[in-house]
This record gives sequence, structure tokens and C-alpha cells, in this order.
Amino acid sequence: MMDSLWKQGYQRLGLLLTKDECEAVRALYADTAPFRSRIDMARFQFGRGEYQYFAYPLPAMVERLRQELYPKLAPHANRWMQALSLPADFPSGLSTFLDRCHAQGQTRPTPLLLRYRAGDYNCLHQDLYGDLVFPFQVIVGLSRPGEEYTGGELLLTEQRPRAQSMGHAIRIEQGEGVAITTRYRPVEGTRGVYRTTMRHGVSPILSGERYSLGLIFHDAA
Ligand SMILES: [Fe+2]
Repeated sequence: MMDSLWKQGYQRLGLLLTKDECEAVRALYADTAPFRSRIDMARFQFGRGEYQYFAYPLPAMVERLRQELYPKLAPHANRWMQALSLPADFPSGLSTFLDRCHAQGQTRPTPLLLRYRAGDYNCLHQDLYGDLVFPFQVIVGLSRPGEEYTGGELLLTEQRPRAQSMGHAIRIEQGEGVAITTRYRPVEGTRGVYRTTMRHGVSPILSGERYSLGLIFHDAA
């Protein structure tokens, strides 16, 4: 079921939101109340464009998606960490996992809404916000590629040990969710499992405006 996640480090999850829901979520961007902070990416040399982290309580649709996606990913997260020979004890429910984050001082919500305009882009990076890291995250496209914007593919690079990196360019449809690996991918080699390092970003938007929703499951310190 999550074959592509295991083999390539990302998995298309199908349509998670309707067009109306996408428009409702991205309309939140203009308001400051739902958010705890706004990041100007150029200021931090993260790229160009803006995003805002949601505050708790999350908007209902964002909360629902985060709650529903976590238990589908958690069994894979445990197998994934085992394959990487890393500690693997993710609980089956998001609330228990977030309790653990909060007990470690990772208390700030990480779901975010991103807005890119022509010329904007996101440099390759990993979203790590503390010692507790869930190995997957989900991106939901909120704009229509080819109609509302051009360019702006989700980029994933995989850095293999002692080898050159490879890349994926992923066009995300409006409402479509894509799960990606946050940090590493276990790869079956001839002498056992080794790990690759994965980073993600967004290629420059050529025209129009592109909104996306990022669902990160661990909270931030
Ligand atoms: Fe990210």
C-alpha cells in the first residue's frame, strides 16, 4: 500500500480535500488570528516566499487531517525506524505522540500554510524541530497546477552514501496529499540495509500563486 514511500521516499495519497475545502484553507492565509508566526523565507535564506505556522487550536480541517493521517503512517513509521536501526516506538494515536513531544518541551504546533508567488521557491531542507521526529510528513496542494500557477514542483533529493544524489520533481494536484520522508530512507543493499538522506523543497514558481498545506506530526521546541 505504501510501496512508493518505501521505494522512493514519497507516496501519493490521493485527494484529501475538495476544491472548496482547499479554497477555505488557503483563505485563512490573509488572517493573522489562526497563526502563531509568519516566516519571510528570504530573510532566513530559506528561499523566497512566505509561510505561517498555525496556532493551537488548529483549524478543524487541519486538525482532522493531522489526526486521520497519523495512524495510517504510524505502523510504517515503526517499521521504517526498525529498518534504520533507530528507536521505533511511535504510538498508534497522534494525541499520545503529541503528549510525548510536549513532555520533552516540543510544544509549538508545526502545521503550516505556505504561499508562493512568481519567482518564489523553497530551498532543499529537512523539517526537524527537536529530538522527537516523526519520519514522515504530508504536503497537500491547495492550488491548481497549470491553471493557477506554473512551475512550483515539489522537489525531493536523495543523497546516497558515497554516490551522487538523485532527485524527484512532483506535481501536486489541488487537494492531493503527498507523504514524504522527513529525514532518511532505508535502502536494501547487497550487504544489508543502509540509509540515504532526503531533503525537500519547491522549484521556482514561474507564474501565478501556489498555496500548500504542510502537515508535520512532531511539534517544535
Ligand atoms: Fe519543509
